[in-house]
Amino acid sequence: MKAIVLNNIEDNYRLAVEEVPTPVASEGDVVVKLKAAALNRRDVMIASGSYPGTEVPKIIGSDGAGEVVAVGDGVADVSVGDEIIINPGLNWGDNPKVKSADFTILGMPYDGTFAEFVKIPVENVYPKPQHLTWEEAAALPLSGLTGYRALITKGKVQANENVFIPGAGGGVATYLIQFAKALGANVYVSSSQQEKLDFALKLGAQAGVNYKDADWENELLNQSQGIDLTIDSIGGESFKSFINIGKLGSRIVSFGATRGPVPNLLLPTMTLKEMTLLGSTMGSPDDFKDMIDLVEQHQIKPVIGARYNLDETPKALEALSNGENFGKIVIRISE
Ligand SMILES: NC(=O)c1ccc[n+]([C@@H]2O[C@H](COP(=O)([O-])OP(=O)(O)OC[C@H]3O[C@@H](n4cnc5c(N)ncnc54)[C@H](OP(=O)(O)O)[C@@H]3O)[C@@H](O)[C@H]2O)c1
Repeated sequence: MKAIVLNNIEDNYRLAVEEVPTPVASEGDVVVKLKAAALNRRDVMIASGSYPGTEVPKIIGSDGAGEVVAVGDGVADVSVGDEIIINPGLNWGDNPKVKSADFTILGMPYDGTFAEFVKIPVENVYPKPQHLTWEEAAALPLSGLTGYRALITKGKVQANENVFIPGAGGGVATYLIQFAKALGANVYVSSSQQEKLDFALKLGAQAGVNYKDADWENELLNQSQGIDLTIDSIGGESFKSFINIGKLGSRIVSFGATRGPVPNLLLPTMTLKEMTLLGSTMGSPDDFKDMIDLVEQHQIKPVIGARYNLDETPKALEALSNGENFGKIVIRISE
C-alpha cells in the first residue's frame, strides 16, 4: 500500500511517499481502508522532530475514516464493510477521569492514518455519523474529542455562560465554537485575521477581537462584560489576559500551549478572583461516544479549510504549520 513515512527526525518534514506492506488484522484488531484522513498540530510536531518519543520509520497521522476490510480473531461487533470513524486515543484505560500510563495516540508510536490502510483495535472504531461526508468524518475525531472534553467534561459549560475561545481559526477551536453554541453559551473568540473572525461569527460566535490589536483585552471585556469559561490552547504571554478577562469564580481549561510556556503567571489575581484552572488531554472512550452523540443530535458539521491528496501530505503539514487555514486540513485517500 501507499503510505507517508517519517524516516528522519533530524530534518524537518523528511516524509516520503512509500510502498509498504498492507497491515494484516491480528487478534482484536480491524483493518480499515481509509477514505480520508486529517491533520493535527501533533503531526507537525512529529514531522519536525519536536514531539517526545518519536521513532522512525513510522507512518504518521491520527485522524481517519473508512471502511472495514478485515477483522481479526475475537472481533464480534464490527464486520467487513462497516463504515467507521477512528478514535485515535489508544489504551485510555478504565478510569474516565484520567488516562492510564499506557495511553498513546495513533500515528506515533503505532503506524497511523496517512496511508491507504490502517490497523486499529476494534474498540477504537465507531459507526460513521450518517450526516457527515467521508472528509468531514475524518476531520472529527482528535479535535472533536479534545474540544468535547475541554469544554464539557472538564469545563462543564452551562447555557448563557460567556465562553472565550482564543485562536478561532484552529482545528479544535472550530468545534469548540459549535459545541458551545449548541449548548446555549454566548461564544466570544479571538483571531489574527478579520476573515477568520467573520467565519467564526457565521459558525455561531457572538463577537470577536483581533489578538494582534494591542487593546484586544479591553475590547473583549466591553463586548462580553467578563468571561465565565476560557478554553485555552495558546498559553504563552496570552495567558495573563485570560486571567484578566475572567469573572469572579470563573474557569480556565488548558489543553495546549501553541505559544509555549506561560511566563509570570499571575497567581495572586487568580487567587483573589477565586478562579479555577483545569488541564485536559484528548478524551476517554465515554467522551468520544458522547461527542459523537452531540454532533449527531445537533447535526454539527466539521469545518474543512483545505483538502490535499495523500502524496501532498508534506505540503499540507506546511500549510498547517503556517496557520493558513480556518478549521481542519483533510487528506483525500480513496473514493
Ligand atoms: N491536549 C490535547 O489532547 C490536545 C489535542 C489537540 C491539540 N492540542 C494542542 O492544542 C493546540 C491547538 O491545536 P489545534 O489542532 O487546534 O491547532 P491549530 O489548528 O494549529 O490552531 C492553532 C491556532 O492558534 C491560534 N493562535 C496562535 N497564536 C495565538 C495567540 N497569540 N492568541 C490567540 N490565538 C493564537 C491561531 O488562530 P488564528 O488562526 O485564528 O489566528 C491558530 O490557528 C496545539 O498547541 C495542540 O498541540 C492538544
